[in-house]
Amino acid sequence: MHPNAAITGWGHYLPERILSNQDLEKMVATSDEWIRTRTGIQERRVAGPSETTSVMCTRAARLALDRAGLFAQDIDLIICATTTPDHLLPGTGCLVQRKLGADNAGAFDLNSACTGFLYALSVASQFIQAGTSRRVLVVAGETLSRFMNYQDRTTCVLFGDGAAAVVLEATEQQAGVLSTVLGARGDAEHILAIEAGGSARPASPDTVAAGEHFVRMQGNEIFKTAIRAMAQSSRQAVQRAGLSMSDIHRVVPHQANSRIIVATQQALKLDDSKLVVNVERYGNTGSTSVPIALAEFLDTGPIHAGDNLLMVAFGGGLTWAAAVVRWADIAQIQGQRATPLAA
Ligand code: UT7
Repeated sequence: MHPNAAITGWGHYLPERILSNQDLEKMVATSDEWIRTRTGIQERRVAGPSETTSVMCTRAARLALDRAGLFAQDIDLIICATTTPDHLLPGTGCLVQRKLGADNAGAFDLNSACTGFLYALSVASQFIQAGTSRRVLVVAGETLSRFMNYQDRTTCVLFGDGAAAVVLEATEQQAGVLSTVLGARGDAEHILAIEAGGSARPASPDTVAAGEHFVRMQGNEIFKTAIRAMAQSSRQAVQRAGLSMSDIHRVVPHQANSRIIVATQQALKLDDSKLVVNVERYGNTGSTSVPIALAEFLDTGPIHAGDNLLMVAFGGGLTWAAAVVRWADIAQIQGQRATPLAA
């Protein structure tokens, strides 16, 4: 029988510096009122000079390992979801591996923008179900502030920085990642992009002068697709898990815009009490948004073995993704660690 992939640890990290709507009013032609009514965002975090993506990911990962009761050496794979890596090369996952001292782990990066965490969760769970890995660290981190044009009001008010991680572990329990749904529409790549700095448009004085290394977005185009993609992929993930929406204990949506969250909630006919929302405090933190909200929810709970969580996101690419996770009896998994793992 294939093992399942259960979440046994989680953690998140947010930079201390807060950038409020009032701060932004002094930087661009915007208003607290516009930002709050159009997006629900009140403030976001901005990384300090020494807080790179790998630094924040490592902090979140240490918390996740502590929570799981594991050492870094116990991990055999690290998947780092990021669109804002420290460097083009080496991968940020490798930097996290070194900083953690996860000497027994392979490491790679995965970039699918705001859906990165859910894509990585899907990949990680399949490494575990195939028997290739027993313990996988899925970490997401973004320093989107480094790619913001703070003169462009259509983007700079929306995004923030942060990191979050989960440990996925093999279990024989009927729990863990029950289903995932991944989708993409590459023909819409132009509506959210960082155009320069890659092989198609290498960085040059011209690209820098034109601001092509900043995030550019046609937000209202994404808005229309986002609600449909979030609702459809949610329904598919719940169906693939053999459940109905009423079996879902909590929904953790991508935190891009409270209007998108509410429209998705209405499409899925969800009670307010089922939704985890923190967009007002952190804005859109890219691939990190779902796991930060998840970690905050798990920190405050309550959650019980058998509870079903639905996570859903959309983002650049365009991409969308959803996952259903049944909460496992973590104490039982920890208790069995004394027993040598089956080969
Ligand atoms: O994770 C995936 C990443 N992308 C997203 O999540 C984006 C999804 N889209 C959205 O969240 C919304 O489309 C936005 C919040 C980006 C924009 O809201 P909207 O209601 O779709 O506004 P809009 O783009 O249609 O713009 C309406 C007006 C425009 O002015 P005019 O042309 O009507 O005069 C904009 O220039 O609002 C103006 N505007 C602003 N005004 C004040 C755009 N940004 C701002 C701003 N402050 N920051």
